[in-house]
Amino acid sequence: KQRPILIQGPMPIEAENFAKKLKHVKVEKSGTFVFYKGKLNNYPVIVVKTGKGMENTAAATAIAIEKYKPKAIINQGTSGGHDARLNVFDIVLGERTVNIGSLKTGDKAENEGMDPTAWKPMDLMASEGSAGEDPNAEKPRFYEGDKNLLAAAEAVKQSYSKGKVVKGTIGSADVWNNEVDRIKWFHKTYGTSVEEMEGASAAQIAKAYDVPFLGIRVLSNNKVNGGKYSPDTAAACQEYVYEVVKQYIKAS
Ligand code: 5AD
Repeated sequence: KQRPILIQGPMPIEAENFAKKLKHVKVEKSGTFVFYKGKLNNYPVIVVKTGKGMENTAAATAIAIEKYKPKAIINQGTSGGHDARLNVFDIVLGERTVNIGSLKTGDKAENEGMDPTAWKPMDLMASEGSAGEDPNAEKPRFYEGDKNLLAAAEAVKQSYSKGKVVKGTIGSADVWNNEVDRIKWFHKTYGTSVEEMEGASAAQIAKAYDVPFLGIRVLSNNKVNGGKYSPDTAAACQEYVYEVVKQYIKAS
């Protein structure tokens, strides 16, 4: 039996367009997570509306892996630019995905204040010991995008006409950053191309089960170069991911 490809989208506008493209859809729910089980060119594909944020995404990913044993997972949707060269409607293929909310603050006594510019990336997967005490944990944890998924995405790049498609780094946290200096700090410290609130969570759980994973994110806004928010980017991203999935099925 063929193992399904799992496509994740956080918001209704980021999942339902793709779900509508599937044939013979059966809807299944688990908690607040909605799974649209269907067929694409006769191959099993499941779209899941995960809800926003790291917690929803981690839970929805683990449930999907346990229940449906996916062959591969694509986490896709909108994002905010961290790179001035990227514009609204451009798409980033997550060569790497990283949790940018996992941080260790500096050491300060009472009345010494707080200084986010001195915070350090913290890698919760560095060891089984205390990340707060372990100097080896003072680094970001990057999750690599799967090579075959990346190859499929590269192969259909030309089909996307609304912007460019580039490889890059996706940063995730339950934070919406609107401070340009802070965004620049992330761009410098982690090399982030965009930020969103789900990719690194899905990547971490996919890795825990060794399921091939790729994040694909369209810029819906870019504070760094003044790119105004456009919700229409969500549908554009799903159109592109649909082409990626067709190519991945063909190649595998
Ligand atoms: N910062 C954080 N999340 C963003 N999203 C879109 N743009 C941004 C941004 N600039 C996405 C998140 C989340 C929702 C708020 O939109 O992934 O699902």
